[in-house]
Amino acid sequence: MDPRTAINDLSKGIPIDNSPVFRRVIQTVCDLARQPLANLRILDLGSAHGQYSIELATRGAQVLGIEGRKAWLEQALRTKNDLSLRNVEFVRDDVRNLSKEKYGEFDIVLCLGILYHLDAPRIFDFLESVFDVCRDFAIVETHFALEPIVSHKWRGKYYWGFPSREHPAGATSQDKIKNLGASLDNEMSFWFTEASLCNVLRHVGFSSVYDCRNPMANLYIGSEKQFKIWENRVTLVAFKGLPIGLDAAAETDWPESLEEHFFRPDAVSFTPEFNKLHLSEDEP
Ligand SMILES: C[S@@+](CC[C@H](N)C(=O)[O-])C[C@H]1O[C@@H](n2cnc3c(N)ncnc32)[C@H](O)[C@@H]1O
Repeated sequence: MDPRTAINDLSKGIPIDNSPVFRRVIQTVCDLARQPLANLRILDLGSAHGQYSIELATRGAQVLGIEGRKAWLEQALRTKNDLSLRNVEFVRDDVRNLSKEKYGEFDIVLCLGILYHLDAPRIFDFLESVFDVCRDFAIVETHFALEPIVSHKWRGKYYWGFPSREHPAGATSQDKIKNLGASLDNEMSFWFTEASLCNVLRHVGFSSVYDCRNPMANLYIGSEKQFKIWENRVTLVAFKGLPIGLDAAAETDWPESLEEHFFRPDAVSFTPEFNKLHLSEDEP
């Protein structure tokens, strides 16, 4: 099997074929990179077996994968050597140690399947470092919280989400490292709601955020390859543009509860004058 499209088996023994997500991310990088990949330096955070890093290096980019687990790193290095790739490096580190001083700057930062393994408050500093090392855009492929259950305060603002368990209470560091798809050490992680995720990306400095819809990113589950779609997962692209000065239109935060703010135009009835002007005579 081609290691670049290998079936992931990170979810409690159920084989999950993630290849549509892989296609989505690679297509997004190629579409949004406004220059040949060979001109770009790309960072892959929580790179696991290097699937994304290797693919982008094969297409010419200079790639650095940061991964906290030795087992994954060894696998990534084997593939790199098998393909004789010189333009991809893998280092073993905790992504929470990311800084411009340590790793320099990158045109594109891939934050794929990693954000929801981090906990507050370090998740905030991590996102700030992602912004700091990023020159153009970051792709954040992540689970989100479906309900705002708990909040964390960071720099005077509240961010909502829910806590998610990464490791059983009292797990040893050896148990944790063997849990290949999980956090490195934190027992719990923090999942932002979609609203808080958009807000925090703005507050760390990204000037605009896009939700990727195509390519479709379904999953094929189990040996039957059932077609499924995550209920609570998005692929966001956060751009580090120049924030525009526009006094006439202030920017606001996303509210947590959308329901109470929905504007439903079907509740608006048009006046007889409007209808006379805009509807032709023979319309009922
Ligand atoms: C769910 S996997 C995602 C792998 C890959 N990015 C993808 O999207 O297919 C999470 C990866 O992040 C790594 N990881 C989790 N917490 C980390 C941390 N604090 N520092 C470095 N790697 C971490 C795990 O070892 C695992 O390889």
